[in-house]
Amino acid sequence: MAIERVGVVGCGLMGRGIAQVCARAGHATIVSEINDDLLATGMASIEKFLGKGVEKGKISEEEMQSTLGNLTGTTDLGSFAECDLVIEAATENREMKLEIFRNLDEICGPGAIFGSNTSSLNITELAVSTGRPDRVVGVHFFNPVPLMKLVEVVGTMLVDDSVVEEVKAFGQGLGKVVVVARDRTGFIVNRLLVPYLLDAIRVLDEGLAKMEDIDQAMKLGCGYPMGPFALLDLVGIDTTYYIANIMYEEFREHQFAPPPLLRRMVLAGRHGRKTGRGFYDYSK
Ligand code: 3HC
Repeated sequence: MAIERVGVVGCGLMGRGIAQVCARAGHATIVSEINDDLLATGMASIEKFLGKGVEKGKISEEEMQSTLGNLTGTTDLGSFAECDLVIEAATENREMKLEIFRNLDEICGPGAIFGSNTSSLNITELAVSTGRPDRVVGVHFFNPVPLMKLVEVVGTMLVDDSVVEEVKAFGQGLGKVVVVARDRTGFIVNRLLVPYLLDAIRVLDEGLAKMEDIDQAMKLGCGYPMGPFALLDLVGIDTTYYIANIMYEEFREHQFAPPPLLRRMVLAGRHGRKTGRGFYDYSK
């Protein structure tokens, strides 16, 4: 079965990017939010990103219009009834995600595949909350979704191998490079990235060097596109804190323990670019 109609739950930072790349690849795509305001914000941001792409000469005006034409917004999960694949990209909250999966299971046809864009929750628990654990996988995109080339597809011990292959082919059809990982918290990228980001915060707190110098060192010394603090601000300080806690709970290893400064940043509301202030100040 080829995946044609796609649903995306959540039109936040990740969901809007996922919906955009699905629509751009020609899929009839429905994206949902919990209310009209959040939906309007997400849809406006997709239009703005595509508009910038036209300005930069990366896509044509026609491609922008056909992408928008493939995209429908909704606040009703019931609109996902006809979807072949639904990708959940809601807030990283276990209870909320479990409820979404239970609801989708009732709404969608038995052949539909469910994917979760979770960064850190385990896919097996999401899978067994449905009556179709053999059709549930992780589909993990990277921020900013339209620019980052990777997708991790995550299979559990319950998944049907043909479902992993279908989702892999779907990801490749979006123009992404797909890697496959087992269902272990953090998969490949966050398993290696999160300890690095947390270590950067620890050495800053220890006074090893200035934040700007640490960022420069990792950019120029390792050829990374961004230093760890710029990347923390992009990913979200709150999101990183949440992921670190879950990884620490799973592995009980010090490398995943959120450092005190990270917790203080979250409490202080410095959540990164999205709040105008994280390690850097974006208010201007
Ligand atoms: N439409 C189309 N193309 C666009 C565009 C748009 N609106 N905006 C930018 N682009 C293109 C640019 O033209 C450019 O293309 P080119 O290389 O062919 O010239 C390319 O995208 C890069 O854009 P910019 O030059 O404007 O920006 P930078 O060169 O500064 O790159 C970045 C920005 C891609 C974000 C880069 O800094 C980067 O790769 N950073 C690291 C991001 C990262 O690591 N993300 C993963 C985070 S972890 C995660 O998400 C997992 C989660 O679970 C936590």
